[in-house]
Amino acid sequence: MKLLVVCLGNICRSPLAEGALRAHIEDSPFAGRVEVDSAGTGHWHQGEPPDRRAIACARSHGMDISGQRARQLKPEDFDHFDWLLCADASVVRDVLRIAPQGSEGKVALLLEWAGLQEGGEIPDPYTGGSADFERVWRLVDSAGSAVVHRLSQM
Ligand code: 4NP
Repeated sequence: MKLLVVCLGNICRSPLAEGALRAHIEDSPFAGRVEVDSAGTGHWHQGEPPDRRAIACARSHGMDISGQRARQLKPEDFDHFDWLLCADASVVRDVLRIAPQGSEGKVALLLEWAGLQEGGEIPDPYTGGSADFERVWRLVDSAGSAVVHRLSQM
């Protein structure tokens, strides 16, 4: 199983989600059997580490995401990954706009795919403060356990 988490910049939400999903999966019977990566629909932060507020938030929860580097979603991702799990509905729309024909069915909202909340979105914390990053953390951490649960039901 190969999962790609997608947000807009790949410096806030999807790096935190990548870290949380990895941690939950590595701590489960699926360790080593699931590939997790992240990407952004935008190109602005390509090659950059996660936003320092995302790094600090992860660190406060015992996780180091500072080694991640932002990259833009690319056409081959639709072949390589089984699922493209998006942070919010506008990301879903942007991803569907560039999805090759036949791969639309791989695109979903992360929280919905995890079974947490139909239509559930992870709000963009970029122009917010540490409480907004904390809220993202809580959502992606819950998504991490929910994804493990979903994998166990497959
Ligand atoms: P992310 O947050 O999509 O969670 O990584 C953002 C990061 C950067 C920008 C927007 C959202 N930006 O406009 O540069």
